[in-house]
Order: sequence, then structure tokens, then C-alpha cells
Amino acid sequence: MIATETSPNRAQPAASPVLSDIVSLPVDSWSGPLPVSVQEKATACLERGHVLLMPDLPFELAGQERELLRPDLGGGGKNISYDPRNQRLRGAEADPETLALLQDVMARYAEHSLALLRRLLPHYTDGLRQARTSYRTAEIAGRETSWRKDDTRLHVDSFPSSPTQGERILRVFSNVNPSGAGRLWRVGEPFEAVARRFMPAIGRPFAGKHRLMRALRVTKALRSDYDHYMLGLHDGMKADLGYQQSLSQGGLFEFPAGATWIVYTDQVSHAALKGQYVFEQTFHLPVAAMHDPEESPLRTLERMTARTLVDRG
Ligand code: SIN
Ligand code: FE
Repeated sequence: MIATETSPNRAQPAASPVLSDIVSLPVDSWSGPLPVSVQEKATACLERGHVLLMPDLPFELAGQERELLRPDLGGGGKNISYDPRNQRLRGAEADPETLALLQDVMARYAEHSLALLRRLLPHYTDGLRQARTSYRTAEIAGRETSWRKDDTRLHVDSFPSSPTQGERILRVFSNVNPSGAGRLWRVGEPFEAVARRFMPAIGRPFAGKHRLMRALRVTKALRSDYDHYMLGLHDGMKADLGYQQSLSQGGLFEFPAGATWIVYTDQVSHAALKGQYVFEQTFHLPVAAMHDPEESPLRTLERMTARTLVDRG
């Protein structure tokens, strides 16, 4: 086993299933060099399905930017999103001046999180692809959604319209809550245990299904068999209330205001139960760019099904 520093405010259940860990790292700035020992630990822990926590790495909002901390900015939606590739802001409702300020802040979060990953995970630099930045202004607790969109239930991330073709989903989060409220998560069992439980009930995709969905624009790109199974895990977990109940006694962790954390959300079972005001940046990484590709959900599912689940041609 790797040495992990499990944080003291992590509640462990009495008769406990094995759960993912929260591993603290001494990183307190968005730039500057980091020791190789920290880089190696970060890579190993992330790939083995732990959450990396930097308790003293706040994403700071200063002066007028603090006026962006209001729930109505998101217009009742879950996410304000920003695409660093084309500087497009979506889902925010405010006057043009406020929108311009918000866009600057989101662009800064995109830059900071990319710089952080480049120095913390230098091994990934060539493969890392930056996707959307999001700002979540809504309080999670008490929100009404369909079960499939209900992120208060344990799940691994997989999105119906955005197939990854096996690429990893790596996310950076920063809790910017101005009144000091933490963001409460639950983490669940390691990926392999989740897959062992839910894979048998997921049917094989019928021939031609992926092409049909692309043609009908249900998906933005061609869904692979890997995406089919990942979506099956996501839905299977969320729909199974007995399973949710069986893990409801443990795995709770509150990410403090002022903290930043990094997690492979396609691998780590997670649920967000409570909290308001978080910035998030999504990255994708090809499995081949990992230090140990065998730890990826793709390879785990391929071992389990004894099949190739993405087109490598
Ligand atoms: C999620 O990815 O399920 C939600 C995480 C969060 O907003 O804290
Ligand atoms: Fe999620």
C-alpha cells in the first residue's frame, strides 16, 4: 500500500467497506516549483483512485470580484461554464460589466488550474487537454433534479452526450465559499469494486447503436463501447437506492473553504451533498499518457470483459 495521510475530519464507518482516501499535499501556491517527491506522490495517489487535497490553496476573489458570490448569477442553473478554448461564457445572468468580470475570473481559474497540474503532474503535460471551466453558485442541499442528474448520489462521472472514448476525466475544484462553509462529499468504493458489482447488469450495446446515436445527434462524437459501459455504471449506481443506502454510513469528507482538490471523477465514486460556490476545471488525458495506464477505468473494464472497448485504429 502507498502511504496516505488520511485527514482527521474524515469519518470512517465502523464495519467498513474499503473506501477511497483523501490525501493531503503541502501545496500552497498556484505557481513555483514543487519537489519531485510531491509530484510522484500526487501522480501515484491520483492514479490509484484517491482525492488529492490541498487545504491551503485558495482561489482568491478580491475587491469587486466578491460581488460574483451570489446565487442568482447562475440563473437557477447548476453551472456557469466557460470554455478556455474559445473564451465563451454560458449560463450566467447579469449585466455586461458583471459578465466581463466573471469571464476574467473564470479565465484566471482556467490558467491557475492548468499551471497547477503542469507543475504537480509534469508527466501529464504533453497529454493534458483542457476542457470546460465551471462555477457553481447554487446550494447543493435541497436541489430538485431527476435521479440521473442527482449528484448527491454516489456515481462515477460519465456524460451521455460527451463520450470520452476512454480518455480520463480529471477535475480540479476550489471551494470559494465566503462564509467559510465546507463542501460536503461522500466517496465510495474503489472503481474495480464498483465495476464488479454493476457491470454484470449492463447489456452489450447492439450493433450500430453508437453510429445511430451520432447520426441522431444524441452524442456529440461517436460513443465507444467504453462510454456505453461507463454510462451504465453511472446510471446503475444512481438508480440503485439499496446500494446508495449501503454506503451511507461512511466516506464523508468536508472540503474546507479555501481548499483545492484534484480527482479523477471517472474513477472515484463521489457524491456532493452540501455546499455552495465552487470553481471547477475539467481536463482530459489519454490513458497512454498515464504513469500506469493499467489503473485506468478503460483497462479495468477491458480486463473484466476480456474485450477491446475503444477503437484503437
Ligand atoms: C459532481 O461531480 O458530482 C459534483 C461535484 C461538486 O459540485 O462538488
Ligand atoms: Fe460527478
